[in-house]
Amino acid sequence: MSDHNNNKDKDKDISDDSNKEIVKSSAENNKQIMKLLTNMKIDPDQPHPFWDTQPVPKIDIVVEKSGPIEIKTLDDVRKEPLPLPDLFEWVHININDNEQLQDVYQLLNENYVEDDDNLFRFDYSVAFLKWALQPPHYLKDWHIGVRVKSSKKLVGFISGIPATINVDTDIVKMVEINFLCVHKKLREKRLAPVLIKEITRLVNLQNIWQAAYTAGLVIPKPVASCRYFHRSLNPKKLVECNFSALPPRCTMSLLIQLNRVNEKPKSATIRPLTKEDVPSACALLMTYLSKFGVSPVMTEEEFWHWLRPQKDVVNCYVITDAAGKVTDMTSWYTLPSSVIGNAKHKTLKAAFSFYNVATSVPLIDLMADALHFAKKSDFDVFNCLDIMDNATFLKDLKFQPGDGNLQYYLYNYSTPTKKPADIGLVLL
Ligand SMILES: CC(C)(COP(=O)(O)OP(=O)(O)OC[C@H]1O[C@@H](n2cnc3c(N)ncnc32)[C@H](O)[C@@H]1OP(=O)(O)O)[C@@H](O)C(=O)NCCC(=O)NCCS
Repeated sequence: MSDHNNNKDKDKDISDDSNKEIVKSSAENNKQIMKLLTNMKIDPDQPHPFWDTQPVPKIDIVVEKSGPIEIKTLDDVRKEPLPLPDLFEWVHININDNEQLQDVYQLLNENYVEDDDNLFRFDYSVAFLKWALQPPHYLKDWHIGVRVKSSKKLVGFISGIPATINVDTDIVKMVEINFLCVHKKLREKRLAPVLIKEITRLVNLQNIWQAAYTAGLVIPKPVASCRYFHRSLNPKKLVECNFSALPPRCTMSLLIQLNRVNEKPKSATIRPLTKEDVPSACALLMTYLSKFGVSPVMTEEEFWHWLRPQKDVVNCYVITDAAGKVTDMTSWYTLPSSVIGNAKHKTLKAAFSFYNVATSVPLIDLMADALHFAKKSDFDVFNCLDIMDNATFLKDLKFQPGDGNLQYYLYNYSTPTKKPADIGLVLL
């Protein structure tokens, strides 16, 4: 059951006008999603044999109110795992067991998300996977795989981690679903819906009925349709990898010059986050995130898990006031990609913008400092979604739009469609 906050529900009734605004902006945003579908040549009436059976809004519906789509109880939840074809078996993956973690790493390294041209494939590191899958109060039951019975080869994986998500002022206990992957040789055999249904069952058994997830593809129905932007830090390598192209009439040396970052940070006092910063930094971030339509609610323990600087996993820098209170923070995570079939380069080191809050300095200056540190740590590119206030600095800091969109989804929870700037949640 979702954990509705009654006081906040009362606030919703205060102003009919503000409700009308939500409906109007939802209708407008819905139009944007329909336009996107047209651009992507996706038929909104396309049947989705699996998703059409799930508690998610139909793609062309204008959602006007937030809330669960269906209400179930534990009695409605199947007690045994879903059946699998005879050759396969379900396994719980123990992330603390290095061999099992290595199996997940290898499955993802060889089969996870690629770009449309199959030039790059995400290469989440082992340390990253541990971080992403073991936040406070994680459930080991929510890391599940499918193995071939005879060889024990891992051929499918899906994971969930607990999260508290604020949706239009309702605080909802959810699961964040990530790392859905089916081995390339088993694609288009409807194994993905089985993995999704099994994780749903395991999550429901914990009395959790809502989920948040993102995907590149459009299925019923995105809450928001966001876009990646890329800031070149190593333009020569990016061109050599075909990540970007040398613009017409531009030489490589000019491109390198255009993409220089500041030699020194703009803030003289910016430094890595430490444990002592957690109370003020967590409060700063929670206050900031509460203004968005969809955002996580973190305890200090969770904040420290997600933002504690870890080499090659996540970085967080802060600025403090005279009393030592954090006034500004910028963070990014490390997600390299394997470069597929390139003679010169094997891996692309990418930083992904995480959570940024600026109160004592302009956000653009804070992000310029993030670029400075990322360049210093040898990142090739800094990626950023157009969510939160990110659109305010993308152009001036020379980010270029990418060609992929990232769709945000909620399971069993409908809410008016959001603009990217109304999303305050980053999923890894
Ligand atoms: C995503 C992946 C597991 C889907 O498996 P598949 O073999 O292509 O698809 P299946 O035949 O098993 O299932 C198809 C169904 O799954 C749905 N589906 C596919 N990818 C999905 C995703 N990322 N999220 C949710 N549903 C998805 C499809 O929409 C379809 O349902 P529908 O008929 O209702 O539209 C597989 O393509 C894969 O591992 N890709 C690389 C990793 C990846 O992209 N992971 C998802 C990250 S968001």
